[in-house]
Amino acid sequence: MTRRDGLPLDVSRQALLEYASEIMLKAWQSFDVARPGEPSIDDDLKELARASISEHPTSARQALAEAARILDSSLAQSRPRFFAFVGSSGLEVGVLADALASCFDVNLAVSGKSADLIEAQALRWVGEFIGYPANGGAFTSGGMVSNLTALAAAREHALPRSRHEGLAGKHVALYCSSEAHYSVKRAAEILGIGADNVRGLPIDKTRRVNSKDVARAVDLDRKSGITPLAVIATTGTTLTGAVDKIAELAEVCEQENVWLHVDGAYGLPAASLNECKELFTGLERADSVTIDAHKWLYLPKACGVVLVKNRTTLAAAFSHFENYMLHDESQMNPVDMTLEYSRPFRALKLWLAFRVHGAEQFRTAIKNNLAQAKLCKELVEASEELELLVEPQLSTVPFRHVPKHLQGNEVALNDHNLKLVKRMQEDGRVYVSSAVIDGRVCLRPCFVNFRTCDDDVKVLIEVTLELGSKSPP
Ligand SMILES: Cc1ncc(COP(=O)(O)O)c(C=O)c1O
Repeated sequence: MTRRDGLPLDVSRQALLEYASEIMLKAWQSFDVARPGEPSIDDDLKELARASISEHPTSARQALAEAARILDSSLAQSRPRFFAFVGSSGLEVGVLADALASCFDVNLAVSGKSADLIEAQALRWVGEFIGYPANGGAFTSGGMVSNLTALAAAREHALPRSRHEGLAGKHVALYCSSEAHYSVKRAAEILGIGADNVRGLPIDKTRRVNSKDVARAVDLDRKSGITPLAVIATTGTTLTGAVDKIAELAEVCEQENVWLHVDGAYGLPAASLNECKELFTGLERADSVTIDAHKWLYLPKACGVVLVKNRTTLAAAFSHFENYMLHDESQMNPVDMTLEYSRPFRALKLWLAFRVHGAEQFRTAIKNNLAQAKLCKELVEASEELELLVEPQLSTVPFRHVPKHLQGNEVALNDHNLKLVKRMQEDGRVYVSSAVIDGRVCLRPCFVNFRTCDDDVKVLIEVTLELGSKSPP
């Protein structure tokens, strides 16, 4: 019996690998050019998706070919005209790193030996890249889990032993902008803080939370016996890309002795640019930060990062001493810093990407995206039928189509823009998502793809105007 007799292949590994790399190469080449539309799901694929599990093997080549067809008719964020949500773009070396990491399947729960060193180094590099003095952190599945991780540390910091005793009888609260990402509420639900105790405070006309409102809310809560756990500054809101003023919020937090968390899942990579430094003034004062490498650092999902100023705060929230995971108190396992147990080697893709491209190429790609957002804004402003809804602070440009015959009719405009986005998605030349800003439905393109170029932005505007003008009255 050979080692492979349990799960034999019907082709050589070399042939399989060559075929897989052919598929990947073809995909990468197809991402270099925008395709004219998105293929629909054909009947063969529908049939395939209905089949029950087979007792017998399918040839590996055939199964891989099927996987390639499934992927080709799926929405790939890697394509250059995917402008919806806050996308990612499947950077090639990141894809290879994922394959390599899976191949060795290192688990970063207990010591993974060299992998631990690389994870720690990659965390340091993220901190250096954005200018945050991190002393610890963890790779996570994304912004949701990074925010949860940071807020668990904040809860334990404000109320030591709350992870053991629970919060029963203790009233606590979080403070953020009304446009903070929903993951803050979700973290509050999971941590026993309660979504109703997330104070989503009003935003000003630049869509930032006002630090005076935060100070007032903290004060009011304290006077009512409520313990403030953390203030969350969002640096790059999901809806409009607004960047809260970190320094002003840091001032409040330092005076009130409250944890400051910066949710920069989307926007923090821009802090690496000299021209954007001012937007992120005060970042170094935060107790924790969230940044998603699978958003504006171009890596394939999932690659979230949470960084903390003081690593003992993570250990206080997460460390365990179990009979099946022995370690010295001074030598924490990676799992003692985060909430996942089995942990893939996510750090490898960020590490490899920084090694292969260097920090400067990343900064250039981010600058390009900012320039594309500026171009999009200019094209919107130059058109009589388009209306910019929010002045972009980062790379999100919310706008709507306003045909002459609907001017002034808000209800009809909302209906028109909702249908327009649907039609654009069906058309498939560009992919954009809709959003609602101050009651107005709009298109909300976000430029975070290194494959996007100026022509793609122009096509976005052309398609909007073309399909917008064809809308049934
Ligand atoms: C500001 C912000 N925070 C958190 C998240 C959640 O990130 P993830 O989807 O990686 O969990 C997002 C997602 O878009 C976001 O924009």
